Amino acid sequence: MAYDFDKIARDYDRMNHLMTLDLDRWWRRRAVRELSTFNFQLSTLDVACGTGDMAVELLKHGCRVTGVDLSEEMLSIARRKNASANFQLGNAEALPFADGEFDAVTCAFGVRNFVHLEQGLNDMLRVLKPGGRMVILELATPDNIIIKPFYNLYTKHIIPWLGKLVAGNREAYTYLPQSIERFPKGKDFLKTIQHSSSNILHSAERKLTFGVCRMYTVVKN
Ligand SMILES: C[S@@+](CC[C@H](N)C(=O)[O-])C[C@H]1O[C@@H](n2cnc3c(N)ncnc32)[C@H](O)[C@@H]1O
Repeated sequence: MAYDFDKIARDYDRMNHLMTLDLDRWWRRRAVRELSTFNFQLSTLDVACGTGDMAVELLKHGCRVTGVDLSEEMLSIARRKNASANFQLGNAEALPFADGEFDAVTCAFGVRNFVHLEQGLNDMLRVLKPGGRMVILELATPDNIIIKPFYNLYTKHIIPWLGKLVAGNREAYTYLPQSIERFPKGKDFLKTIQHSSSNILHSAERKLTFGVCRMYTVVKN
């Protein structure tokens, strides 16, 4: 069953910016740059859009934005933040859009929460135009043996403590590092992407901030 983000929507942005030391904004900006290198005025679908922070960045680059998410509470915050984007309730695993409807698809910190990961990836690629680009951001454990102990201390102890202090919810922020650890990263996630669809021309990974965040770029053929 999918994690219920309605429960943490109110404090989501504050916690996000605090626990990533505002790096989350930079990671989303970096992802949007990956799209805007090859086009402008893109019609873009942001999957698992949450409170709409990716939409903020996409709109700054002149994209037309549709956002979908399972959580009505997250969507209502996204709508307040981005009047010119279109946000709707929807499941990434059965998107309510036609084949090839979008020039670009983005998904920031969403795929880790899908119940059927390959199905979600397949549907995101289905609604992308041939030649279009999909950019996925996801958190990961770093590989560097010097960074790893600090990362473990921070994610397993400090983040759950911050979650209790700021959002009154230790449980949600204990689930976070656990779900990051369980999720495939790097070559393993690229393999999952390749398995999910036969319409992939190219896929690549870029490590951001010592690999704590990974950016996956996929081009549809
Ligand atoms: C960690 S938040 C990320 C939100 C936002 N993209 C961001 O950059 O902050 C994960 C979001 O994924 C949504 N989500 C999880 N599974 C989903 C699915 N199958 N379809 C659509 N949204 C989903 C949740 O409701 C939640 O808003």
